[in-house]
Amino acid sequence: MGWASGPSSQNPGDRVIFARQPRRLASTRIERSPPVSHALRDVPYMGVIFVVAEASKLGFENGHPDWCNLGQGQPEVGEMAGAPERIHSVELLPEDHAYGPLGGTPELCAAVAQHYNRLYRQGKSPYGPENVSIAQGGRLALSRTMAALAPINVGYQLPDYTAYEDMLELHMARTSAYPVRTSEAEGFRLTAERYERAVIDAGLSSFVVSNPCNPTGAVISGDELQRFVSISREQNCTLLLDEFYSHFIYSKNADGSWGPGDRPVSAAASIDDVENDPVLLFDGLTKNHRYPGWRMGWVVGPSKMIDTIGRVASAMDGGPSRIAQRAALAALKAEVADQETDAVREVFAAKRNLMVESLSAMGVRFASEPASTFYVWGCLDGLPEPLNDSMTFFRRALEHKVMTVPGTFFDINPGKRRSGRSPYEQWMRFSFGPPMDNLAMGLERLTAMVAAAR
Ligand SMILES: Cc1ncc(COP(=O)(O)O)c(C=O)c1O
Repeated sequence: MGWASGPSSQNPGDRVIFARQPRRLASTRIERSPPVSHALRDVPYMGVIFVVAEASKLGFENGHPDWCNLGQGQPEVGEMAGAPERIHSVELLPEDHAYGPLGGTPELCAAVAQHYNRLYRQGKSPYGPENVSIAQGGRLALSRTMAALAPINVGYQLPDYTAYEDMLELHMARTSAYPVRTSEAEGFRLTAERYERAVIDAGLSSFVVSNPCNPTGAVISGDELQRFVSISREQNCTLLLDEFYSHFIYSKNADGSWGPGDRPVSAAASIDDVENDPVLLFDGLTKNHRYPGWRMGWVVGPSKMIDTIGRVASAMDGGPSRIAQRAALAALKAEVADQETDAVREVFAAKRNLMVESLSAMGVRFASEPASTFYVWGCLDGLPEPLNDSMTFFRRALEHKVMTVPGTFFDINPGKRRSGRSPYEQWMRFSFGPPMDNLAMGLERLTAMVAAAR
């Protein structure tokens, strides 16, 4: 099955076993118990799920006050300085008991279109409700779209969001997945030049990329983002731009310090023709509005594509909950959304600075200065052995009740078609999603752990 075998590093009785030699990509280094039936395929273990499973064995539970989840993929969800009060209730109406429209209620589609027009398309042709499809979460919006792809070549960047691995793999009978590895020298940022070269050389008809990027925090913006849109139009390559972290933007002040960026970043501002530019934008309430549990995601793009994606939903999921959509209307009211996004950049910029300072002091280095998301992608090669290996660092940090995510999980490998060592064995994703006090506690513990190893 391509699973790793060999001596386990610890807990030989556990279901998840790590081989020290030979080293392989993360997804092939996890051994599971034999399947009950061969009817099920080997579903890849997403990094964050693995991290939580391992931490749970040591007593972790969500919200446990003594654990610091610096592996977490969600922003803090409670009341936050400067943010509007959290939405606590939603009315249930008689029509909520019935199925709703597959692509979302007309009211929410209109509110999402209006949100984009207000933020990014002043003085430009507007998006309408027909340009929006709502799904129960961002992953479902992406999955529906990938399920709608024709038999084509699809590009993706490395490293990128772990969930793309299985989404791409599921459709490999029809589509071919083509990786573009970003370079450390370029801060792991996909450049327009690399994008164009890949589209032409590999004959790509679509490309999926998170921007801002999970895990690296790299962000493509301004003229370069405009270039991506132009290349997509010129080459007729449908760009699937995952903008789930578009409000978490930080920028450098004149004195060299870092603070909140002044505005969210979206390719919506660079689209010429909302009906013909082949760009699909993905976002939702999960990160930017801090409601991951509501499962509200959407895709925005040309109405013909939106219509096709909506049809996929009829077999896949049956459309989103009207109840969650009614709650989403309250979160997207202009004054609520704007106050939230301003607060998010302000509060998270302070947490970003604390994390960057603490990790730098420990000896973690970065390919570029973290400019977005709530993740820091750091290299451990300056840490004392054995903490300079991300899997060992991860295990040791768990002993201190701190969770992190080893970089190899982001070396996504649809269909396990690539073998060999991952270049991210010394890279780690650290999350500053948790509230400041919990974050500070986690960083103090990591500092002490590294200091003890020197
Ligand atoms: C890059 C990226 N896109 C999309 C999502 C989708 O989130 P959800 O399905 O929870 O709405 C996530 C969540 O971790 C993400 O990191």
